[in-house]
This record gives sequence, C-alpha cells and structure tokens, in this order.
Amino acid sequence: MAHLNLGVLCSGRGSNLEAILRSCEEGRITGRVALVVSDVADAYALERARNHGVPAVHIPPGKFRAKLEPEIEDQYVRALKDRKVDLVCLAGYMRIIGPPLLEAFPQRILNIHPALLPAFPGLHGQKQALDYGAKVTGCTVHFVDPGVDTGPIIAQAAVPVHEDDDEDSLSARILEQEHRIYSEAIQLFAAGRLRIEGRRVRVLPPP
Ligand code: GRF
Repeated sequence: MAHLNLGVLCSGRGSNLEAILRSCEEGRITGRVALVVSDVADAYALERARNHGVPAVHIPPGKFRAKLEPEIEDQYVRALKDRKVDLVCLAGYMRIIGPPLLEAFPQRILNIHPALLPAFPGLHGQKQALDYGAKVTGCTVHFVDPGVDTGPIIAQAAVPVHEDDDEDSLSARILEQEHRIYSEAIQLFAAGRLRIEGRRVRVLPPP
C-alpha cells in the first residue's frame, strides 16, 4: 500500500493533529505527517508537531478574517507541494478554503466537524446542538468543497447529549469520537477505499 504524505492545517490546540500523529506512528494510518501549517503564530499544534519531529510552519494569513488572501493561499499550496503532500487534513483550521488549495488538491482535502452534518455547520457546532435541544449529536469527517462544511461525508459518529451537559462536557465527549473517526477516514483514503459518487462517498470493501 502506498505511503501517504499528509499535510495538516491547524489554528489551535491540535488535539486532532496529535491523534493523527499517533495513528501514523502506531501504524493505524499507513502514512506520515509531512508538514503542519498554521495561520496562528502561537498555535499549540505547531509545538505538538515539532515534539513529534514533524516540520511545522506558521504562514501569516493576511488581511482577511475568514479566509486567506489568494496570494497567501498560493504560499500554503507551495509549502504543501514542496513536502510532496498527497492529502490535506484540516484539523481545527478556522478559515474557509479557497480556489488555490481546492484546485491544487482536488478531492484531496478532508475536514472534521463537531456535529452530525448537515445539522449545525459553521462555528460552535457543539453549542448549536445544545441550544437547539438535540438529544444526539456527534462528529463528521467530510471532503472539503467550496462551501462551509458541505462536502461529501466520509464518516460520522453519534454522541448522546446528557441532561447535565454544558458545552465543555459535550465537546469533550465528541472529541473522543473525532480522534477515532478522523484517523479511520484518513486510513480509508490511504487504502484507496473511498469513491465519491455525487454527494455520496462509497466505502469500498478491503481488498
Ligand atoms: C474540533 O472540535 C474540530 O472538530 C473543530 O475544531 C476543533 C479542533 O480541536 N473543527 P483541536 O485543535 O483538534 O484540538
């Protein structure tokens, strides 16, 4: 099986990155993290990457709040291509992906979202579920398209909402499942077992 080179984009604490790094080290993902890029200079994710001996760079995002400047997004593409990245994983990366990355990595960008899409897209998926009164929520790994959390779904896990949950307790319970299903989805990609058919992602049986 081909060895996958992953590029991970992070804006914050990087617990999903940590789970991916460990999955690579422990053989649950047949690949390695080749580069971590952050739009935030002091993101803890950068430190986590370096602790695992993985190159990590901060590339300042430019003047927009919700996306990168296109010229800067080109720099992200160059950095990822220089490290021969095959698959880009968004892991707590807080900006919308624009044409430069989407065109450089067609159907090769994944995201993890802390809700059962299409419910509660965008920011604060866990709080949205609580405020709405949902009894079950969860997390979703999906391919990235130009929308916000709208791409074809690869994997989901359901998580119950408890009577006494607050945003922190619910987020923690969802996060355990995020760490599990993100690595599983990446490994399905690495094994060539994902076929996008319109909105649906077919998971092929193991060879
Ligand atoms: C996770 O809840 C993820 O689903 C969301 O942002 C959070 C990132 O957490 N997109 P971490 O940086 O991976 O710890």
